[in-house]
Amino acid sequence: MLPKRRRMRVGSPGGATASSAPPSTRFPGIAIYLVERRMGRSRRAFLTRLARSKGFCVLDACSSEVTHIVMEQTSAEEAVCWQERRAVAAPLGCTPAALLDVSWFTESLEAGQPVPVECRHRLEVAEPRQGPPSPAWMPAYACQRPTPLIHHNISLTEALETLAEAAGFEGSEGRCLTFHRAASVLRALPRPVIALSQLRGLPHFGEHSSRVVQELLEHGVCEEVERVRRSERYQTMKLFTQIFGVGVRTADRWYQEGLRTLDDLREQPQRLTQQQKVGLQHHRDLSSPVLRPDVEALRQLVEAAVEQALPGATVTLTGGFRRGKLQGHDVDFLITHPEEGQEAGLLPRAMRCLQDQVRASPLSFPRVTAGWCCCHLVSGSPVPCGSPGHTCLFPQGLVLYDQYQQSHYGDPAWQSHTMDAFERSFCIFRLPQPPGASVREAPRPCPAWKAVRVDLVVAPVSQFPFALLGWTGSKLFQRELRRFSRKEKGLWLNSHGLFDPEQKTFFQVASEEDIFRHLGLEYLPPEQRNA
Ligand code: UTP
Ligand code: MN
Repeated sequence: MLPKRRRMRVGSPGGATASSAPPSTRFPGIAIYLVERRMGRSRRAFLTRLARSKGFCVLDACSSEVTHIVMEQTSAEEAVCWQERRAVAAPLGCTPAALLDVSWFTESLEAGQPVPVECRHRLEVAEPRQGPPSPAWMPAYACQRPTPLIHHNISLTEALETLAEAAGFEGSEGRCLTFHRAASVLRALPRPVIALSQLRGLPHFGEHSSRVVQELLEHGVCEEVERVRRSERYQTMKLFTQIFGVGVRTADRWYQEGLRTLDDLREQPQRLTQQQKVGLQHHRDLSSPVLRPDVEALRQLVEAAVEQALPGATVTLTGGFRRGKLQGHDVDFLITHPEEGQEAGLLPRAMRCLQDQVRASPLSFPRVTAGWCCCHLVSGSPVPCGSPGHTCLFPQGLVLYDQYQQSHYGDPAWQSHTMDAFERSFCIFRLPQPPGASVREAPRPCPAWKAVRVDLVVAPVSQFPFALLGWTGSKLFQRELRRFSRKEKGLWLNSHGLFDPEQKTFFQVASEEDIFRHLGLEYLPPEQRNA
């Protein structure tokens, strides 16, 4: 928890990327990008200012316009790996820029114009890549490298993530994190690992993770991983922790007491919280993935309710779906309002609107007009809801379960919590299903909906970029970003802000890009945060 907001820091206190001076056109066709890694933030800012004052075009971001990428104290091998990882992130068809040593840049500054690129300036591997793949280079923190959703090492990462999950079930946080980090490194590699030698020099690859990869490369399976997957302990813990409202500690207690199946739990309702009862009741729906069309339908419902509760408030999709995932275990929305303070206490009103939307008149759904209920979306009924002979499909509304928590921001008692202090609702929606959609869970009171987990979070607009960053994930990406901030920059980051403990000031930001810039990191779009 960060200390309560005291003083705002305006502008770009770190000096980060020097400035956003308009690109110069003194040397047309030449756009330079200086890579901060190894060069350092302040030297990069200094060189950028100097070059711009001499009329060079130096860009802040490594966009497709860049023609000359300049690196300092970087081997050709590292430079090529860096570029390959960027190529994974870049749109197809981009011409790769020249990778150059800083000597080209300093000579050009001295000459007052770009000097011709010679072989000695180039950071490129002389021969084409052949023979055994060479070891890769990779920065240590997940927030320093792009991690796409679709990558080249799926069977390896699945194995390591199974071991991470199993370690988590045993309460071994350290081991869990170690396996997750190793898996995340493999997700970021620009090519498949086919030889163990490729792991040499990679961060977070200790003896254990290397052994798992070696076994998979040699035999196609890893005995330890298979043993874990078959074990009653792993299977039961996985089953129990998937239930809404059940964490590792509860699952472990049930396991120790001999419970093994969902029916075992159903027979002991006195042990269950209200949340767990609902979770168990709708287990089949809640354990099957939420899909993209569900997300779109939910977005419309939530937007309509939020607009009704507080005109001008905005709803932004976060979580895995913002990172490009096609499926998820829930849907995460972040809500704010352009006027600070207006957003406070918005959720109870929005939830009431959601319940009322069912029969309110006129309704705010685009496809539903006055007198129609959202059950019309499902049934295609020719008569308005409530007409004689027509039974509403959503007599209890769209919100099946709602666990509301008001904002605790600034509450000293909350400061030790690792969770953020935003106003939020962890809820389950009855999501109307279009006519003809397969009904997974039967019998149920109404065949026309499915239960979907939705998290609604409300942030004041001044904290919005931090909340967006935090709630976009991935979990490991955020964890690494916060560790990077603390260890490498001496700054404290969470979903509420970025704090400088020496200056005792908060950074004021307008976007996620600003946060990356303050931390001296290259901006990674959500699709590249799948660490
Ligand atoms: P999720 O648990 O929803 O994960 O948290 P996900 O990445 O969307 O993947 P699914 O849903 O399993 O498919 C989304 C992000 O929100 C943050 C976490 O950092 C996570 O990456 N989060 C989640 C919080 O900050 N606080 C919370 O209480 C929960
Ligand atoms: Mn999610």
